[in-house]
Amino acid sequence: MVSFAAAAEGRAVPAAQGVSLPLPPTAGSMSLEEALAHRRSACEFALGALTLDEISRLVWAAQGFTAPEGRTAPSPGATYPLEVYVVAGNVGDLAAGVYCYRPVPHRLELVTDGDIRVPLADAAVGQTWISRAAMVVVIAAVFERTTAHYGKRGERYVYVEAGHAAQNLLLQATALGLGARPVGAFNELGISHLLRLPGGEVPLYLVPVGRVPRF
Ligand SMILES: Cc1cc2nc3c(=O)[nH]c(=O)nc-3n(C[C@H](O)[C@H](O)[C@H](O)COP(=O)(O)O)c2cc1C
Repeated sequence: MVSFAAAAEGRAVPAAQGVSLPLPPTAGSMSLEEALAHRRSACEFALGALTLDEISRLVWAAQGFTAPEGRTAPSPGATYPLEVYVVAGNVGDLAAGVYCYRPVPHRLELVTDGDIRVPLADAAVGQTWISRAAMVVVIAAVFERTTAHYGKRGERYVYVEAGHAAQNLLLQATALGLGARPVGAFNELGISHLLRLPGGEVPLYLVPVGRVPRF
């Protein structure tokens, strides 16, 4: 199990309900090599719900703390520009809604309730398959955190870090036997509006995740 030392987390979230996630184990049943070999983008999902335990492992893989000063994904100068959101639609023990992941204390904070998967898919240039995923992880960024240190070059660093986080998430989904697909085609303003992203925060990547159909 990962132990979470008290550490300051930068982002202010409006006071709201949220849910503490189960601590993610640091051992699993699939090797890294197997996950790499089996990762494939999925866009067909079965109806089954995801569990809170699976959500915990997925968001931890993307941006979780591994030590007081470390996360699962590298970050330029430890500036940590990324914010991870969960758009939950079909998750046991979690009401449908948009949640912001706070790596410390490994918790989801409710941003807005209700199932927004259909309008989210509309904002992703009508990729309707997205609405059939049990949940969608949205990776957003506050560029200023990194460009304040690295100037214009920091912009590319933020995109690179988003790729690291997304690949961690995709490999974790594979290791859990789930289907996932990275999505870069979407209307930025539409997604920002749906997730009620604060000013200065930009959505970079969507990753729908769900159970895979058994044929
Ligand atoms: C930056 C990026 C953006 C992508 N955007 C989309 C997308 O909007 N819709 C989609 O269906 N797949 C998208 N994909 C997934 C690719 O289509 C997929 O990775 C590719 O077909 C290779 O298949 P594989 O992932 O199974 O190896 C994206 C992949 C990347 C890396």
